[in-house]
Amino acid sequence: MSDARRSSVQTMPTGLVIAPSILAADYARLGAEVAEAEAAGADWFQIDVMDGHYVPNISIGLPVVESLRAVTDSFLDVHLMIDNPEAFIQDFAAAGADLITVHQEASRHLQGDLQQIRELGCYAGVALNPSTPADTLSEVLNLVDLIVVMTVNPGFGGQKFIAEAVPKVERLRQMAIDRGLTPPPVQVDGGIDPTTAPVAAAAGATVFVAGSSVFRWPDGIAANLRALRDSIAPQI
Ligand code: DX5
Repeated sequence: MSDARRSSVQTMPTGLVIAPSILAADYARLGAEVAEAEAAGADWFQIDVMDGHYVPNISIGLPVVESLRAVTDSFLDVHLMIDNPEAFIQDFAAAGADLITVHQEASRHLQGDLQQIRELGCYAGVALNPSTPADTLSEVLNLVDLIVVMTVNPGFGGQKFIAEAVPKVERLRQMAIDRGLTPPPVQVDGGIDPTTAPVAAAAGATVFVAGSSVFRWPDGIAANLRALRDSIAPQI
């Protein structure tokens, strides 16, 4: 974490983290649903930014980050599923992101992008799609504060969990250890629910992004969050 971090950046939560993805929220009630999730113990929020190019979907962008920043002190994790992320890192940092994640596959100069995120005072994350090998991060493990192992192909919520991506969690942690580094936290993102989360936790994941199983499942946000946390706690 660079010394020049923005004073306003929230400290990244550690340990078991449940991170609702607002992709699945009701945008007519976004502030209320975020507040409800906060009250029910959500540790941080993921904001999925999609450009319709890098992924076949368009979602949300800077105005949503700015609006949420104004109403919550929760840790905001901005997941850039966009081409040329370097063009927008500064804007999302200024909008209030605490963590900015770029995709290894979309970043033309990953080392530079990660350095820029940290120089702006934010935590730096990098995401790997299910087909992208862990080894693609071998030269930047000292530059990341979080690694995202995508357990779906990016672009949509409500997809089926790709279990084949899970062993990558262990491989990435071991790669860091083999280099004498403290392994950064590994986040899993996509198809995470009380059945799949324990599988990822057993492999060493500690940050769990969940959209549909928090905002869409019938028991309601508080009960859904509790079920997710209860499913993981024994593994952590
Ligand atoms: C995919 C998105 C989703 C979202 C979570 O591009 O990144 O993974 O955050 O979606 P659910 O939890 O509905 O699978």
